[in-house]
Amino acid sequence: MGPILGAVGVAAGERAVVADLFSGSARVAHALKASGWRVLANDALRFAATLARGMVQADLEVWGERARKFLAELSHLPPAPGWFTETYAVQARYLHPVNAARLEAMRQAIARLELEPELEAVLLTALVQAADRVDSSPGHQMAFLRELAPRALKPLALRLPELLPRPAAGPCLALGEDAVGLAGSIDCEVAYLDPPYDQHAYLANYHLWETLVRWDRPEVYGRARKRLDCRSHRSAFNSRAGIGPAFARLVAALRAPTLVVSFGAEGFLDRATLERMLAGRGYLQVLEVPHRRYAGTRLGIHNARGEKVGTPGPAGTMERIYLASARRLDLPSDQDWREVRKPGACPGT
Ligand SMILES: C[S@@+](CC[C@H](N)C(=O)[O-])C[C@H]1O[C@@H](n2cnc3c(N)ncnc32)[C@H](O)[C@@H]1O
Repeated sequence: MGPILGAVGVAAGERAVVADLFSGSARVAHALKASGWRVLANDALRFAATLARGMVQADLEVWGERARKFLAELSHLPPAPGWFTETYAVQARYLHPVNAARLEAMRQAIARLELEPELEAVLLTALVQAADRVDSSPGHQMAFLRELAPRALKPLALRLPELLPRPAAGPCLALGEDAVGLAGSIDCEVAYLDPPYDQHAYLANYHLWETLVRWDRPEVYGRARKRLDCRSHRSAFNSRAGIGPAFARLVAALRAPTLVVSFGAEGFLDRATLERMLAGRGYLQVLEVPHRRYAGTRLGIHNARGEKVGTPGPAGTMERIYLASARRLDLPSDQDWREVRKPGACPGT
């Protein structure tokens, strides 16, 4: 995350509005708020928009104390096994049944409380984070481990999410919109774009959190008990044919003088295509950031007893960060940023 904050840091003035239009876990938006900017965090998925509202829009001094009190009360509720426990801890085994039944009791109680949206989002964020600490998935929810992971045997524990005080620059905002539709109506100094870059859809990867937040008891299918709408809901960014036009419309609609874009090197759009699409914004600098793959891929394929039965894929992936700006920005010299285009330069120069 360091290079992203560094790039935003050289572009954004002290009281700037910085938009994160694909905020996902909200960790980047949260770090941007911690750095003092006014943050607009947006994500099309309900659980992601809720994390953004709970961790970015909600301010510590407004909700901290009340949220702590509610979390203490929720922690003492007796387990209430029902549809959620049966689906995700018996039919599928993402959670220990007792933890699932406690989550179910807590989620029902939150629904009954009918709280202010920001406070409700703080409590739901605490619920998702607590569930995430004791789940038995391989890092995504397309599958679950055959034997419950050791962490899944630990008791579910609610903690107050890391709320931050309101920045001096002003309040932050969380939205749940399609980024392409939203882009033309926002005013910000920097827009950070981290869209999906291949076919892996976040709804399918985190369907359990979407259901926990929506609490809509959806029809589910398959061994993984995914929500039925995983079949129909697809972001344009998850399609090889759709991503180019969607990204082009997004870039054209944004009025921000600076765009910071994260994109996986193995994604549907290659470096030359992205450079061409961003060329009209002025100066363009690119940083390559190697990442280790997540453990499941790195360590190899294991059977239920934990014995290695397959070989892992390549050890690393590459993320590229593109900084497109109306004025030339001086980036930290200890990072290997490459200037690839200046205004008026011909493609390929
Ligand atoms: C690569 S993830 C972002 C990860 C995030 N930066 C983080 O650190 O957790 C992409 C996100 O884009 C969201 N998304 C996909 N299509 C979208 C769209 N059209 N508008 C808004 N959000 C979208 C997904 O729900 C997902 O959370």
